[in-house]
Amino acid sequence: MNKIILSLLLGLLPIVSHAEQGLKLDHVRIDLSDQASLQRGARIFVNYCLSCHNAAYLRYNRMGHDLGISNQLVKQDLLFATNKIGDRMRAAMPAADAKKWFGVAPPDLTLEARYRGPDWIYTYMHSFYRDPKSFSGWNNTVFPHVAMPFVLYGWQGEQRAVFRNVKLVSHVMENGKAVTEVTEERVFSHFVLAKPGTMTPKQYDLAIRDLTNFMVYMGEPAKLERIRIGVYVLIFLAVFLVLAILLKKEYWKDVH
Ligand code: HEC
Repeated sequence: MNKIILSLLLGLLPIVSHAEQGLKLDHVRIDLSDQASLQRGARIFVNYCLSCHNAAYLRYNRMGHDLGISNQLVKQDLLFATNKIGDRMRAAMPAADAKKWFGVAPPDLTLEARYRGPDWIYTYMHSFYRDPKSFSGWNNTVFPHVAMPFVLYGWQGEQRAVFRNVKLVSHVMENGKAVTEVTEERVFSHFVLAKPGTMTPKQYDLAIRDLTNFMVYMGEPAKLERIRIGVYVLIFLAVFLVLAILLKKEYWKDVH
């Protein structure tokens, strides 16, 4: 019994730790049945992310098959890091070099959407801002001191982050006396688009939605299949229900 209670409590931990960080994430509408969006997301991912990050649990031909892209088109438009369509999606840059340049190796992103959640990824890709004090020149409000340079700044433009100071009042006991302590903390307020990019904010939102949609697909490719099969299962159950009701009526006809 104790073990059950303990595992339930441990299960709640991620919720508690997320709540503690007090992050306000933007909501993104994920639609895995929107094949055009998934295809656009795949194109962004392969062109702009796969240069550093692996997505090594997915193969190019599986992605093509799931997203309705022919092998011919995958080879032509999406195959840069390898020439074999059955290969896993590996970064063009060797991990050891990346570690030398960025200080940390860029993590594999196949399961990133399951680890962080779609809203986090969507917000992360909206939260890069110019920070001359950071090594890459960029910082991020949802991932402070991130080592990743903002590769889509040409699209979004350059954001400046505005912080404000808030007073935190706390009551503590010192030598048996209640003392009020006031401390100041710098918290993020909002972004200002200092230099616009080639996309309008609306276009950028849509591009990042497509990218996030694709990353959610990548985290669980079988989901597309499951949703498709699920519809047939529900139709079957509906038909079966009618048959079952008719059969029941037939059986009970003579009982009364
Ligand atoms: C120039 C190399 C480079 C490119 C290109 C790049 N990243 Fe990164 N990325 C990094 C590095 C390095 C980190 C590790 C950051 C850290 O731990 O401080 C990172 C971290 C991340 C993380 C956070 C991982 C975590 O810890 O949860 C996400 C999400 C991410 N990248 C998404 C993307 C996406 C999406 C793209 C394409 C639009 C992209 N990256 C392109 C280098 C890159």
